[in-house]
Amino acid sequence: MKNTWLNDLSHLMMDTYVQKDAIAIDMTMGNGFDTLHLAQKAKHVYAFDIQDEALLQTKEKLDKENISNVTLIKDSHENILNYVSTFDYVVFNLGYLPKGNKEITTKTNSTLLALDHVLSHINDGGYIQIMIYPGHAEGFKESLALNEYFKTLNPLDYKILRIDLPYQNNQPPYLVLIHKIKKDGR
Ligand SMILES: C[S@@+](CC[C@H](N)C(=O)[O-])C[C@H]1O[C@@H](n2cnc3c(N)ncnc32)[C@H](O)[C@@H]1O
Repeated sequence: MKNTWLNDLSHLMMDTYVQKDAIAIDMTMGNGFDTLHLAQKAKHVYAFDIQDEALLQTKEKLDKENISNVTLIKDSHENILNYVSTFDYVVFNLGYLPKGNKEITTKTNSTLLALDHVLSHINDGGYIQIMIYPGHAEGFKESLALNEYFKTLNPLDYKILRIDLPYQNNQPPYLVLIHKIKKDGR
């Protein structure tokens, strides 16, 4: 499941929209690439994963770069509000750990619940980026459910951008960016 190009674009989005006073959340820490990138831009990052391996890999990456503005949390992301309730930039990179146990993957119900909490607490002007992988069974279910969910969001409150690879076979991943519009319309 190679998606280097989309990952590069997702990091470009962070470069563009993460402000240096921002509180950022990595909802799926994994190997820590996104956590590290966010930490280099934001004031503080809270990163979640349910696997010890993810916390170990990520800590190693952060230590190597002497980065200390990150809180690593071993918990499922739908419990986010137990840890932090105000934030500006949120990243979901769904699915399973590359080269890890494919059974330990994000699940439709908890992903939707987590997204619901994030949308109701993110600051005005904030962004949520979601990398979605419909190429495996749970990911396919998740992508359909997310698509239905996105349709329920009021376009006066949220702008939603989708970047996909329409001419590629085999259900390639795609990237969604949700922007919560500021009260002044920006
Ligand atoms: C595609 S990987 C993330 C890649 C990561 N962002 C990176 O930069 O390396 C997906 C991760 O989501 C984690 N995950 C699955 N279900 C989760 C949940 N309910 N809460 C938090 N993390 C979860 C998996 O353990 C896996 O590490």
